[in-house]
Amino acid sequence: MIELEKLVRKNILALEPYTCAREEYSGNEGIFLDANENPYGQLNRYPDPKQKLLKQKLSELKNIDLENIFLGNASDEIIDLLIRIFCNPGKDKILVFTPTYGMYKVAAAINDVEIIEMPLTKQFQPDLQNLPASFFGKTNCCKIAFFCSPNNPTGNILEIPDWFISSFTGIVVVDEAYIDFCKQKSFIGKIANHQNLVVLQTFSKSWGLAAARVGMAFSNQKIVALLNKVKPPYNISTPNQLAAIEALENVESFTIRLVELLEEKDRLLNELLSIPYIKKVFPSDANFFLVEVTNAEKIYSDLLKAGIVVRNRSSVVKNCLRISVGTREQNLLLIEKLKNL
Ligand SMILES: Cc1ncc(COP(=O)(O)O)c(C=O)c1O
Repeated sequence: MIELEKLVRKNILALEPYTCAREEYSGNEGIFLDANENPYGQLNRYPDPKQKLLKQKLSELKNIDLENIFLGNASDEIIDLLIRIFCNPGKDKILVFTPTYGMYKVAAAINDVEIIEMPLTKQFQPDLQNLPASFFGKTNCCKIAFFCSPNNPTGNILEIPDWFISSFTGIVVVDEAYIDFCKQKSFIGKIANHQNLVVLQTFSKSWGLAAARVGMAFSNQKIVALLNKVKPPYNISTPNQLAAIEALENVESFTIRLVELLEEKDRLLNELLSIPYIKKVFPSDANFFLVEVTNAEKIYSDLLKAGIVVRNRSSVVKNCLRISVGTREQNLLLIEKLKNL
């Protein structure tokens, strides 16, 4: 059994978090003279620091207790908070499986935390059997292992076996930013069995709310409490909380849009496969495709000139572009352009 407190930085354990006076008052109506706000204006009040209503709705949708939910200024903030909570700068390390989402590396570098990059196999799977034994011992200085599943930019679900989560002597983060686009079951169901597991999801992808910057972490109460302790008190603005609440009140339209997008994804795949210079479209469990072409640099810049922006991922997977699924109209324009290059 992992001892969480031993993994946490000492200064974080000792930290006295900032408290807001309004947390001591539970009513919505009152004469609020506690926070030096301006009494006039539409957005004059600080947001709910605990995001109670949004968490309530999420708790119902995800069938998980409120105490197991943390909300961040999107996943990127949560990635940074986790590194700050568990990794001593200049001493501890994190583990990632490459190619993967770039922010793990950036957040680690900002915090002066070394990153160990293990390459995914040819099938884009983590080679966990061959990890050095030192990752599983008491002296493991690798505090967090980040798994991105479905993985960005490869698009596939990663195999993360229970034995690994049980035996890794650090925190296991499963970033499920793209989980709603596939049939794979979320790891949320496993948090009760693993004290060291954190599952990340986001409103930025399937919910279509990238501008609102709302990210979710699901974990045991201790890790959620640590995240709450370290976060800035008002990390999600009122308009952004309301945008997420509104989305959760319209799950039906979310589902309709999701089905539409997935149908569009199938259509786009077929079209991409018909283009001669596209050598491979990697199987995708997400809302994008990793596409191997004959000359990624040229195709990327030709598309750019036509006002079509895709992501050139050649630096991490040879000659590959990452293409998000757009609307029918956008995809048709993309295909038309690709066919005429
Ligand atoms: C795997 C993965 N995680 C997290 C994020 C960031 O999401 P957010 O908008 O919630 O910060 C992205 C964005 O592209 C992503 O690909």
